[in-house]
Amino acid sequence: MFLKSNLERPFPSEKIALHNRNVSRLKYERSNPANNRHHGLVPGPCAEFLARGGKSVQMYEIVKAEKLTPDVIKLEIKAPHIARKAKAGQFIMVTPTEHGERVPLTMADFSPEKGTITIAALEVGKTTRQLGRMKAGDQLFSLVGPLGLPTHLKNYGNVVSIGGGIGLALMYPIVRAFKQSGNHTINIIGAKNEKLLMYEKEIQAISDEFFICTDDGSKGHHGFVSDVLKKLIAENKKIDLVYAVGPIIMMKVIANITKPYNLPTIVSLNPIMVDGTGMCGSCRVIIGGETKFGCVDGPEFDGHKVDFDNLTARNKRYIPEEQNALKRFMEAK
Ligand code: FAD
Ligand code: FES
Ligand code: MG
Repeated sequence: MFLKSNLERPFPSEKIALHNRNVSRLKYERSNPANNRHHGLVPGPCAEFLARGGKSVQMYEIVKAEKLTPDVIKLEIKAPHIARKAKAGQFIMVTPTEHGERVPLTMADFSPEKGTITIAALEVGKTTRQLGRMKAGDQLFSLVGPLGLPTHLKNYGNVVSIGGGIGLALMYPIVRAFKQSGNHTINIIGAKNEKLLMYEKEIQAISDEFFICTDDGSKGHHGFVSDVLKKLIAENKKIDLVYAVGPIIMMKVIANITKPYNLPTIVSLNPIMVDGTGMCGSCRVIIGGETKFGCVDGPEFDGHKVDFDNLTARNKRYIPEEQNALKRFMEAK
């Protein structure tokens, strides 16, 4: 049983991995056989090494860089070995520069034909700002993936997908996959204001029903995505699955709305990850009272079982270090 007093206490392996995260990248990772059963892939730099055909150095070229909003960078990256295996809902670990840290980012798109994957990053701290400054032609030091379990796809019937903030970029391939699996797709997207809406046209194009919400009322419904969900439930709309991706508070509110109606609800969690392959324990989350690893057991979980308060607290545990890293980065430039 996970004790509250353990919240701030990393696993010993987590401490080592965090040291590596802050000082240099993890150079030698051992593959985790348990992880292979999920991905069919040898994780970590071993996978990179094999994918590089035994060559120890290969950078990943950015073929397109575009600002989706002033704070969100979209990068299309040449990574044929990842694009070939990528599935909706999976993520990659990105190390922008040789001495940079590894951060998890969901694949906002992937094209096996072009051999590229696309990421969209909200610039919140040092590493995402580093990505935000990158241009087409620049090289990323390392990519590992695809990681995590893909979205479980089948014909559920009516699927309501809800995205907020950076979650909008991430829900696009998932909605597309739900559509391709024969579902009736009802999509609700939300942002603070009209200028921060992303992937609006793309998601609308694959929606059977489509709703926009803005906090300030500049476009669509004046209010939250949860208001639209409540309205659909009040109208007795047939709903077979709810999928939510976005800020933790948004996913928590959605799960609380659907729980009394027993509406199956999947959320995509974002715990702090270090290796992304099940080794360090940094990403542990509490699901139905049990400890799970976000990277190999998730990132998607049953929203009704998630301990969101624990996730929120754990995601704040390195704020002083993160602020220092950002300060040093901004001063150096
Ligand atoms: P920092 O200043 O270092 O951190 C800011 C906040 O981001 C922290 O307080 C913490 O809550 C979170 N964070 C920091 N380091 C990590 C880490 N190693 N892992 C997870 N969270 C961290 N963000 C996007 O913008 N786009 C995505 O597609 C996306 N996909 C994600 C997929 C998964 C599976 C997970 C777990 C997270 C995802 N995130 C995504 C969150 C993203 O990883 C963090 O915003 C990023 O690591 C912040 O790094 P930073 O150095 O810029 O900010
Ligand atoms: Fe290390 Fe999940 S990130 S175990
Ligand atoms: Mg950081």
